[in-house]
Amino acid sequence: MEYTTLGTTGTTVSRICLGCMSFGSSDWREWVLEDEESKEIIDRAIDLGINFFDTANVYSLGESERILGEALEGRREEAVVATKVFLQMREADPNSGGLSRKTIEQELEASLDRLGMDTVDLYQTHRWDRKTPIETTMRALDDAVRRGQVRYVGASSMWAHQFAEALHTSDHLGLERFVTMQNHYNLVYREEEREMLPLCEKEEVGVVPWSPLARGYLTRPHEEIDATTRGETEEHMYEHPYRDGGGQEINERVAELAADKGVTMAQIALAWLLHKDWVDAPIVGTTSVEHLEQAVEALEIDLSASDMAYLEEPYEPVEVSGHR
Ligand SMILES: NC(=O)c1ccc[n+]([C@@H]2O[C@H](COP(=O)([O-])OP(=O)(O)OC[C@H]3O[C@@H](n4cnc5c(N)ncnc54)[C@H](OP(=O)(O)O)[C@@H]3O)[C@@H](O)[C@H]2O)c1
Repeated sequence: MEYTTLGTTGTTVSRICLGCMSFGSSDWREWVLEDEESKEIIDRAIDLGINFFDTANVYSLGESERILGEALEGRREEAVVATKVFLQMREADPNSGGLSRKTIEQELEASLDRLGMDTVDLYQTHRWDRKTPIETTMRALDDAVRRGQVRYVGASSMWAHQFAEALHTSDHLGLERFVTMQNHYNLVYREEEREMLPLCEKEEVGVVPWSPLARGYLTRPHEEIDATTRGETEEHMYEHPYRDGGGQEINERVAELAADKGVTMAQIALAWLLHKDWVDAPIVGTTSVEHLEQAVEALEIDLSASDMAYLEEPYEPVEVSGHR
């Protein structure tokens, strides 16, 4: 395993983060693994040297956190655990979502309870909350750090101007600042290169991209996208503009380079991200031990400058996707 330092935290994380959205309950999404199968993947990840895990309160409505916590029992200290807050947890309770002080305090307690932990390493805001002033959110997060319930705070997809405002607010008020950005970034979605990634670089914010394989779009020929349950049933796969702006040509070039190098398409797509200096660790989602092993092997793939340029060349700007 290769390791890196997460942003300015001084904390060491594996360069592959295991995404836990695929663990929990198939009642939530058809392609999600249940308890035992999920734990097999987490166990194998630990064997492979992965120490970085990303979940969220909303994944399988808490089941993902519960399973991750149980899988890490007895080896909690070695793991760097990230979870999130923002998306509404209970239909009848509007305060189970958002980033108000009430939501953050209550949802954090509930996440820690499910994880079976006193402290979570990285607590991330899942989206921007237009209803709560950023100062309120940053104060509530800072207090959670003071209480010892959270070690670092991070953020997920938003506009760069919002992220800049959040960082400025923390600095101005002497509060904990966001140390990571979990954003939507892969070979067929590169809009983050315009504003967000240069901002993160300047501010020394760690970058942990979500859907690094474009939810599977970069793992098989585009005409076979619906060949898996997730490919067939997940609406986001079709909402994101992966096929637009040169996406199909990029998919074909990924396949071509994979064949040339004798590796899989997923490995080429991940290697591309791992060669980008602003990326600390892509968050890989999988329901297969074999695919997990392939992700780790992707760390060994060397892409030349001309390979990188060949993969990137067909890209054209697409609609912003993943946040509004
Ligand atoms: N912050 C946010 O808003 C946000 C949004 C989305 C996701 N996330 C985080 O990011 C993580 C990953 O996201 P994701 O699952 O959407 O995206 P992903 O990693 O881009 O794609 C996962 C898909 O790729 C397939 N795959 C993975 N490795 C493969 C391989 N070697 N060969 C063939 N297929 C392969 C998986 O199928 P198999 O299951 O068959 O391997 C799965 O269908 C999540 O678990 C979550 O932690 C965060």
